[in-house]
Amino acid sequence: MIAATFSGSKGGTGKTTLAAFLSLLSSTVVPTLLVDASADGGATSYLVGEVTGPYLSESPSESLRGVNVKNLKLTVSVNRGPISNVDEVVKFVKSLGHKIKIVDLPALTDMDAVGRYIPLIEAADVIIVVTEPNPASVSAALYTFGDKRVIIALNQPRPYYRTVVEYYRRVIDNFSKKTGCQYVIVPYDSAVARLSPQTLERVIDLTSEEFDASLVRLLELLTVGKS
Ligand SMILES: Nc1ncnc2c1ncn2[C@@H]1O[C@H](COP(=O)(O)OP(=O)(O)OP(=O)(O)O)[C@@H](O)[C@H]1O
Ligand SMILES: [Mg+2]
Repeated sequence: MIAATFSGSKGGTGKTTLAAFLSLLSSTVVPTLLVDASADGGATSYLVGEVTGPYLSESPSESLRGVNVKNLKLTVSVNRGPISNVDEVVKFVKSLGHKIKIVDLPALTDMDAVGRYIPLIEAADVIIVVTEPNPASVSAALYTFGDKRVIIALNQPRPYYRTVVEYYRRVIDNFSKKTGCQYVIVPYDSAVARLSPQTLERVIDLTSEEFDASLVRLLELLTVGKS
């Protein structure tokens, strides 16, 4: 199963963060692949660190690295730079046997980026829309994708007032009733920002129960489907 992150044109909503934590969680259960399709190498920096390549954008089959912590079954396809070989990447991701494959996309800020990444969106079985509880982020992200399943993560990359989160939860609840998508609310967690290859083991233990529970829920929605 392939899932891709999406936030429309709005960057910094937490796509890479949620893709990384979701992959770590999923890899405790099944072999999981995290495909760093972002141009800035976000997931690579969070989980693997400095790598000289080859990158996904250069040679997909040579871009795989294992994350060696706590016996996790997590593989990252490392990257730097925009994906100009998108058809090759799609073929490669489809060919791999991992039970869960999470493709982390960049924000699609211009027509060029939209055109370049559309085949990866088309290849996904599920779209994980990651949005913040603010008007610009929500209006940039609430799309339907034909018949594809959509799960919205209302994420808080910084602390938000509870009343603000509740307001946007209702906006998303209405959207979900209209479109049949599902959603999960992810809290702000101060440990999350410390994620790096060096701190990985500690950060996994430091995240709050509320944050962990939201990730468990997201993984359940991803794997079990409608509930
Ligand atoms: N739930 C959260 N709690 C605390 N910090 C968070 C949370 N989600 C994201 N962040 C922080 O917000 C910042 C942006 O997150 P991230 O890089 O994942 O966004 P992104 O959507 O991948 O950005 P881009 O569009 O540039 O790829 C990071 O510093 C990250 O640590
Ligand atoms: Mg990112």
